Amino acid sequence: MTRQNSDKQLGRPGRRWQPGRWLLDAERLGAPLDLAKAFPHQPTAPLEVEIGVGKGTFILARAKQRPEVNLLGIEYAASYAAYAADRARRAGLENVRLLAADAETIVGQHLADASVLRVHIYFPDPWPKRRHLRRRLIQPPFIDHVRRVLPPGGQLLIVTDHRDYFEHMQRVLHDAPGFARTHFPQMLDSDEHIVGTNFEKKYIEEGRSFFRIALVKYGD
Ligand SMILES: C[S@@+](CC[C@H](N)C(=O)[O-])C[C@H]1O[C@@H](n2cnc3c(N)ncnc32)[C@H](O)[C@@H]1O
Repeated sequence: MTRQNSDKQLGRPGRRWQPGRWLLDAERLGAPLDLAKAFPHQPTAPLEVEIGVGKGTFILARAKQRPEVNLLGIEYAASYAAYAADRARRAGLENVRLLAADAETIVGQHLADASVLRVHIYFPDPWPKRRHLRRRLIQPPFIDHVRRVLPPGGQLLIVTDHRDYFEHMQRVLHDAPGFARTHFPQMLDSDEHIVGTNFEKKYIEEGRSFFRIALVKYGD
């Protein structure tokens, strides 16, 4: 989904939504990001990060399911980030914060070493056209950043419905040092869905198959 498309669907950020403190100011982030300031409600709680939150369905459900964990959602479509933050505000979820920013910049420059317990990436844009392939998020430099921000035992979880992108991911991750395969954890207890994102629900209705990747970082 492009930024322009999401702005058309949801309207410009700040007009319709009231994201309040749930939307962090991406222009004033420290390096590293001050997690205690971002999550004053529980400043030392473990952190999970979702990349490409879309409308925020997964991050909200996960935050309700695991109130003892802090969840940071990174979404570069500003309208979606604001919409998801508005939903978190209305739900009163103090363990959720959103950032309207590019995940490569945030993971690469603003998250401290070993600071993230889990990285969730659900239905990342597949960029199927040949000339767009280099826009895919799952590339070796990005995976190097993910490895750095995870502690030993930390997990990278990815789901896609796109076979070609899945095969590309398999190649990138096969060559990535420091990770071992693990079982994909059950994410939502209360229903049968494994992830619970908007795209997952849509694709289930369409009868599409999913490809799941769960990796654990092993110790040095
Ligand atoms: C296909 S949608 C999936 C949304 C949601 N995960 C779901 O399953 O319903 C992919 C989302 O990732 C966002 N996205 C893509 N690349 C990104 C990046 N580099 N940084 C942050 N968000 C990104 C897009 O704006 C879009 O909202």
